[in-house]
Amino acid sequence: MKLVKGLLALSIGAVIAAQSMSVQAKELTIGFSQIGAESEWRTANTNDVKAAAKKHGVNLKFSDAQQKQENQIKAIRTFIAQKVDLIGFVPIVATGWDNILREAKRAKIPVLIMDRDLTVSDPSLYVAKIGTDSYTEGRKVFDWLDGYIHEKNIKPRNGGDKINIVILEGTVGASATTGRGNGFNDALKESPNKDMYNILASQTGDFTRQKGQEVMESFLKSNRNDIDVLFAMNDDMALGAIQAIEAAGLVPAKDIVIVSVDGVKGIFQAMIEGKSNATVECNPLQGDLFFETAKKILNGEAVPKSVFVEEGVYPAEVAKDVFPSRKY
Ligand code: AHR
Repeated sequence: MKLVKGLLALSIGAVIAAQSMSVQAKELTIGFSQIGAESEWRTANTNDVKAAAKKHGVNLKFSDAQQKQENQIKAIRTFIAQKVDLIGFVPIVATGWDNILREAKRAKIPVLIMDRDLTVSDPSLYVAKIGTDSYTEGRKVFDWLDGYIHEKNIKPRNGGDKINIVILEGTVGASATTGRGNGFNDALKESPNKDMYNILASQTGDFTRQKGQEVMESFLKSNRNDIDVLFAMNDDMALGAIQAIEAAGLVPAKDIVIVSVDGVKGIFQAMIEGKSNATVECNPLQGDLFFETAKKILNGEAVPKSVFVEEGVYPAEVAKDVFPSRKY
């Protein structure tokens, strides 16, 4: 009797082990649609996804959408036709995904979102989102800025009574743009110091260095002596803007306080050179978490609807010490 019970326990154990090994044993094929290569951050994100796929033994079908939503939709449709095990993608903009996600659902292919958020009529169209918390990033930008303005006792350059802020926004319709904008504006509105700030101009620079430079040039053309602060929604646009500020004969990080989002090596270098004041981190190293979550989903485990990666705030004062440990 004892022997029978022992054998039974052994075989149940073997079944459970075999079930939990099912995903590990089979090579998974995952289709991944990336936005493009608009920024230093995005390149780091892509490299991390590819490296993590290798580490997790995943057969990755990677597609670069060259900044076009229609290319992402085409890529997702191809992944469905290829019957991949799971589809991952970074939504370039928040809306316009319902139809293609319905196609994925009909094909019973789970969808895992990375980095940016999307808005769909039926939340069951995707399993989960892992990535960054843009709203909190925007709030952190204002909190750092307000603290800095007071600590350094910065006064409006034009002798007026308001600190004038210009904003370089990201891609129109992207959750990273609306989230950061809303976070910044809410923190400003809720601040006891709200009356001392004025948003002078706010325009998209599409998260690229070149457009950041061009838009900053146009801000400076109309308001050269009024701008006290630049909030760039990513580091690349800040780096482009720094060139525009220098070309206009002003001193970045002194005449104009500069704060941006991302934490790429380029902005650390600029901070070390005294050309930028702070960066709020947006962590692109999401590959590990993405494939861990994908495996859980394919193993039938429950996963939280959204998981955020850790992000810090780095002022220029710490840039030199922190730089050697930066991974992107
Ligand atoms: O979605 C994350 C944002 O997209 C990063 O801030 C930016 O650099 C990227 O292009």
